[in-house]
Amino acid sequence: MRTKVVIVGAGPAGLMLGRLLDLAGIDNLILERKSADYVLGRIRAGVLEQGAVDLMDRAQVSKRLHEEGLIHDGTVLSFDGDSHRIDFAQLVGRRVTVYGQTEVTRDLMDARQGQTIYEAEDVQLHDFDGKPYVTWRKDGVSHRVDCDYIAGCDGYHGVSRASVPQDAIKTFERIYPFGWLGILVDKPPVAHELIYAHHERGFALCSQRSPTRSRYYVQVANSEKVEDWSDDRFWDELRRRLDPATAEVLQTGESLEKSIAPLRSFVAEPLRFGRLFLAGDAAHIVPPTGAKGLNLAMSDVAMLADALIEFYGETSTAGLDFYSAKALSRIWKAERFSWWMTSLLHVFPDSGDFGRRIQRAEFDYLTGSVAAQQSLAENYTGLPQ
Ligand code: PHB
Repeated sequence: MRTKVVIVGAGPAGLMLGRLLDLAGIDNLILERKSADYVLGRIRAGVLEQGAVDLMDRAQVSKRLHEEGLIHDGTVLSFDGDSHRIDFAQLVGRRVTVYGQTEVTRDLMDARQGQTIYEAEDVQLHDFDGKPYVTWRKDGVSHRVDCDYIAGCDGYHGVSRASVPQDAIKTFERIYPFGWLGILVDKPPVAHELIYAHHERGFALCSQRSPTRSRYYVQVANSEKVEDWSDDRFWDELRRRLDPATAEVLQTGESLEKSIAPLRSFVAEPLRFGRLFLAGDAAHIVPPTGAKGLNLAMSDVAMLADALIEFYGETSTAGLDFYSAKALSRIWKAERFSWWMTSLLHVFPDSGDFGRRIQRAEFDYLTGSVAAQQSLAENYTGLPQ
């Protein structure tokens, strides 16, 4: 078997890259360790920057996004019950679209023309410094495909980054001493826009997927177990962290999904190793507070697709040579923003009273300064490529 580009991972990054290559007539194969149903069952982010929406348009997979996506002109930040709305549209003339990552993945799966092999076991990357090939097993049978390039879009735990020799890669990491306990529920969202709340008991977020489906989160210690959180306990904790007027109108119900996600900042450098490129969560992780994970993955693969299209069209490697530096420059800015939002809104076990006063001062500065709000709005709605 031979193809031009082997894409490892059929999450939104891998599927988007495959789609852009398909549309450009560049032969590619996607290998995915899990089943399609498993990939669709993962509940992830829900906020798209305009750049991600534009990419869905370019990929011709945006019909449902435009029908069902909810356009948000702003968001609400609250600190110990004091609420302030950040008006993206007024501040920077931009907005975001609420549309679940699950739906992005589904739209890309439905549009897929090239081959995707699900439940590919023991995927291994070979010779990406020379003549690359990838091997895997499926139903007990071994397979091999030769290729020009490999795109590692297989997430933080994937085989791609793990295949790189230790001395060729440098990683940067911050692990936060807490996670997010999230719940998905078929009830209308408590507010028209998202609410990010700092409370002395910990952070809370009111998000949504549709006019009838809501997503809520509370900060929990890393030692917490999801089994110890009944729906009732979750709702009680969430209500305590929201301002009273919001808590009053919160519609609760049985959870469709409940899980704890740890918070982490992580970047690998560089993103190119010979003929292997890393993109999306394989290359970087952001804490979810800035809603940047999916958006960053989309901007990575847009850059990588353009570089590959340039290579096959003009046989120039300029774009491929520049991919790592260009992507990392944008990645680090999103890392900074996500770290900053996380630092402002969470309770850190070791920061003490001084740390809390600094957080309060940061919030007061933000709500009193148009410049500070513009900075938040510019970052939240998405920096340019
Ligand atoms: C979500 O809806 O899952 C969500 C929204 C905004 C965030 C993080 C997660 O910052």
